[in-house]
Amino acid sequence: MWRGRRVVLGVTGGIAAYKSVLLARELSLRGALVDVVLTRGAGEFVGAVTFESVTRRPVHTSLWEAGRALEHVSLGQDADLIIVAPATANLLARAAAGMADDLLTALLLAGTAPVLLAPAMNDEMYADPATSANLALLRDRGWRTVGPNIGPLAEGASDRPGRMAEPEEILAHAERVLAGDGPLQGAKVLVTAGPTREAIDPVRVVTNRSSGKMGYRIAEAAWRRGADVVLVSGPTLEPPPVGVTVLRVESTAEMAAMVRRHLPDSDVLIMAAAPADYRPAVTRDAKLPRSEGGFTLAFESTEDILVATMPERHARLTTVGFALETGAAVEKGRAKLLRKQLDMIVINDALEPGAGFDVDTNAVTILDCHGVEQRVTLRSKAEVAESILDAIEAYRG
Ligand SMILES: Cc1cc2nc3c(=O)[nH]c(=O)nc-3n(C[C@H](O)[C@H](O)[C@H](O)COP(=O)(O)O)c2cc1C
Repeated sequence: MWRGRRVVLGVTGGIAAYKSVLLARELSLRGALVDVVLTRGAGEFVGAVTFESVTRRPVHTSLWEAGRALEHVSLGQDADLIIVAPATANLLARAAAGMADDLLTALLLAGTAPVLLAPAMNDEMYADPATSANLALLRDRGWRTVGPNIGPLAEGASDRPGRMAEPEEILAHAERVLAGDGPLQGAKVLVTAGPTREAIDPVRVVTNRSSGKMGYRIAEAAWRRGADVVLVSGPTLEPPPVGVTVLRVESTAEMAAMVRRHLPDSDVLIMAAAPADYRPAVTRDAKLPRSEGGFTLAFESTEDILVATMPERHARLTTVGFALETGAAVEKGRAKLLRKQLDMIVINDALEPGAGFDVDTNAVTILDCHGVEQRVTLRSKAEVAESILDAIEAYRG
């Protein structure tokens, strides 16, 4: 996505400027051509040489540099994206007023590329009505923002927003802006991920080997494509994806209830979770004591979420199921597509090396109810997620 893309990274005079070095580095490592523009204030915090070293490109610090006379126009017009991180209260005010008294404000005014701001300032400065009004005006003009977050500020702890979003968060938002307006823009996508856990007693559970990685990669990719994403997640070690609303559940019954709650608002349901099919018939209130003789546990079936919610599916919903099989996977998956009245099913065979649970790769077959079949050979789950979303977009037309 980033290779060869031109990014202007404006850095203004806040403490968080040091974190923008990491952002510049990450963008450059991904292949972007990063033109850093420092305000005079930014130069007080981080030197041009640091940015030049990580971007391997000249850094811009003034409107008045000989040999660069028209960069105040060309930089913002040649760019694919302009990021300002950190964006000081002062920068927001000057940009909102349409001022152009330094290189960064001039290129923002002349620029045609989308703009992403990462405001960062003292919490009182951020809460001031002047700053709120300036930000509202800039958002109205179509500029996007990320953060500020609640967290420690240079001047100490705070429970109010002011801290700049972390570089990886800014990067994720930048990818969403760069992706532009695709077919999933504004769509409400409900994804489930991970295993569920069924309690035997207060300390023991029955679960499965699902890591949640596939569902999390799908949720991230759908959000980057502009969707509003709700991720209903069983217990996993995956960190919450940027921008995605993560709702944690434990049991299959809890997952079913959460899916039911969000189904009426959703345009797409992607059931990538591996909910437990069985639960102990009886859950003990107290811990079972250890005994030498062992014990027998009786199981009962849990609710099949896709089947149980069938009557609640509305006409515009696209329902995508997953089938993890061991052998004859495509035939079994096709039968499941019909039985569960799905629009699409993603089939993987746990016996195939590198596919299925608890690995970073997958190989799948995507089938839709019109008989379109697509094989996605072994690749990272992030890449498989993109193929699944491409197929969903094509199916929805
Ligand atoms: C130590 C120090 C830290 C500052 N941190 C911030 C900050 O985080 N956010 C902010 O909006 N202003 C901050 N300021 C104030 C700005 O540097 C000041 O408003 C400056 O004029 C900004 O110029 P610029 O927006 O052109 O870079 C700080 C000032 C100092 C001296």
